[in-house]
Amino acid sequence: MTKINDFMRRYAEDEKISMVTCYDYWSAKIIAKTEIDAILVGDTSAMIMHGHESTVYATPEMLLMHLSAVKRGADNKFIIADLPFLSYRKDMASNMQIVENFMQAGAHAVKLEGVVGNIELIRHLVDSGVPVMGHIGVMPQSINTQGSYRLNISNKSEEEKLMLDAIDLAEAGCFGMVLECVPALLAKHITETVGIATIGIGSGPYTAGQILVLHDLLGLYIDFKPAFVKTYFNGALHIQQALQQYNQEIKNNVYPETLD
Ligand code: KIV
Repeated sequence: MTKINDFMRRYAEDEKISMVTCYDYWSAKIIAKTEIDAILVGDTSAMIMHGHESTVYATPEMLLMHLSAVKRGADNKFIIADLPFLSYRKDMASNMQIVENFMQAGAHAVKLEGVVGNIELIRHLVDSGVPVMGHIGVMPQSINTQGSYRLNISNKSEEEKLMLDAIDLAEAGCFGMVLECVPALLAKHITETVGIATIGIGSGPYTAGQILVLHDLLGLYIDFKPAFVKTYFNGALHIQQALQQYNQEIKNNVYPETLD
């Protein structure tokens, strides 16, 4: 099983880290049988599993339920739990209670979005024994202030600001950070500078690792497909065909018996 120190070792040795999101028991069982390094129980569960229009609708209770199911299915994987919208922007005691619940439900680390206003919490978590992954670039929880899922980096000072954010996360003690939709060369520069594992999504090939949303890579989420996503399997179509075949057999009075 990948351990926290492996993130640093792999980054140092330039060995790529593979991550996927996961929200439920049966998918976790499948991932458990692969060599994927780590799982993110992401707040994208609000969209993919619950049909909400953004991750703003994720709650600690929702994430906790998904985390427990994933833990039961993939006990052999390093599991990172996403802290949902606003759940880590309250008083320290409430923030810590949520993290305690997540860690005791089997997370090995937590992830949170953004830098400004989070540094004190990150330091406190790390000092308390909780590994923290940062997340900069596109931050879907801020859709209502950002207005889109695009990163507007049009000049040097915006690039420098992102670099400084990345450095702040590393200095606060994060063991890694997600770079979402960061221009590839900037992601490369950040990766070479920060000294901790960068996990890219739509940020080009130069990060220390990559993460994709499981349902995007398996072609299972049909509401929206980010332009950068490589689809490895046309899951929705295959499932639809299987269901259609089952339906036809039943309607044609063919008993669904196994052949083996
Ligand atoms: O919640 C999530 O799925 C994420 C990934 C997109 C990195 O944060």
